[in-house]
Amino acid sequence: MGKKFFIKTFGCQMNFNDSERIRGLLRTLGYEPARSWEEADLILLNTCTVRDKPDRKVLSHVGEYKKIKEKNPDALIAVAGCLAQRAGWELVQKAPAIDIMFSSFNIHQLPELLNQAQAGYKAIAILEDPPEDEERIWDYPLERENPYCAYVTVIKGCDKRCTYCVVPRTRGRERSRRLESILEEVRKLTEDGVREIHLLGQNVTAWGRDLEKPLHFSELLYAVSRIEGVERIRFTTGHPKDLDDEIISAMAEIPQVCNALHLPVQSGSNRILALMERGYTKEEYLEKVDQLRKKVGNIALSTDIIVGFPTETEEDFEDTLDVVEKVGFEQIFSFKFSPRPGTPAARMEGAVPEETKTERMSRLLELQKRVMSELAIRYEGTVQEILLEESRGEDTLVGRTTTNRWAEMKGGEDLVGKIVRARVERATPFNLFCEIVEVVR
Ligand code: SAH
Ligand code: SF4
Ligand code: F3S
Repeated sequence: MGKKFFIKTFGCQMNFNDSERIRGLLRTLGYEPARSWEEADLILLNTCTVRDKPDRKVLSHVGEYKKIKEKNPDALIAVAGCLAQRAGWELVQKAPAIDIMFSSFNIHQLPELLNQAQAGYKAIAILEDPPEDEERIWDYPLERENPYCAYVTVIKGCDKRCTYCVVPRTRGRERSRRLESILEEVRKLTEDGVREIHLLGQNVTAWGRDLEKPLHFSELLYAVSRIEGVERIRFTTGHPKDLDDEIISAMAEIPQVCNALHLPVQSGSNRILALMERGYTKEEYLEKVDQLRKKVGNIALSTDIIVGFPTETEEDFEDTLDVVEKVGFEQIFSFKFSPRPGTPAARMEGAVPEETKTERMSRLLELQKRVMSELAIRYEGTVQEILLEESRGEDTLVGRTTTNRWAEMKGGEDLVGKIVRARVERATPFNLFCEIVEVVR
């Protein structure tokens, strides 16, 4: 009987993509997916530590999963990802059931770590810096769930030093993946039928600067767009500071680049933005948005906002509400400030009381609800281009517009994977209900 694995992923799309790579790697070792953790020989948690909540979730999951060892003494528990990188041995002391630990730096070492653990040793490989042979990871296949839309990691790490953020510590400095390695993966994906390519990096717009022969992110966009079969391109996460004229022009010129961009603003107060060391002001952010709207046209923007950063006053918070109102984001991911060990913001004075954070958060969500309903109404009666991603039975198809909205319509299963034009009959803040006008390709 082959061995079985079960993977639980927390955190961002980068972690999600790493898990797809880990699944592919485990397949090459003869492992197969288990239906539930109870029947797995290897339980792997790919962790996140960006805020306090995901941290705590991981420990409670390990607490539950360790019961597996009562039934199956040879079963192994592995912890990968950002919490592993940040907490290392401290985590094993808290949860001795952990057998294997590694981070996004050394996924390619998993085969050796498994051997060590199977021989009865604790296989803890938390490295200070990314290893030289990190590129080896790209040689492993990747197992995806969505046959039409694929994530492609193009840059690892982050060289920015936002004062609240733990990511530069957990993912290391920026390391761009070589252009040829990216294009090779994209070619393979399109041969497999993938139509939408989603380029990933914590700071994706910084891609190329550290390459031996430096390149600009816009050149990557052009190169990917020239590959046959690439119908749509998205990228995450762009940093407002790095989003320059070249990138905006490339977005405008390349027809496959989708009309959607996630552009985290974090705060609307210039004083708070300076304390965060984000490297832009509210006015500069709004100016970028203006440029995008002028050149790219009807673009759907989404953002991240931190509520209750140390010393945030009512006035600062109102500046944030003002940005939300002015930009009209299609989606906002909002978070209460969570002090992260080792970050400058964790040592700042002027902590905002929890009640104030909660109160501001609910006001932000209230405003966003209004903005989203207003934006939704604007979709009604329009015709949208939609990539159909799945059939939900009873003749119902779902897919996404280029503005990244979910759309639902009637249609047969044979249309899954096709791009259609559809008229929006009714819109709610999270869903468009459409009727197909024509099948494009
Ligand atoms: N690289 C991306 C986002 C990384 S983390 C970027 O630069 O935008 C994802 C989001 O988590 C951030 O945009 C931020 O809004 C939030 N976040 C990060 N650290 C946080 C903290 N200490 N407390 C609360 N939210 C945080
Ligand atoms: Fe964190 Fe800032 Fe880097 Fe984003 S750009 S990962 S928020 S340090
Ligand atoms: Fe979390 Fe690491 Fe992503 S801390 S948000 S999984 S980069």
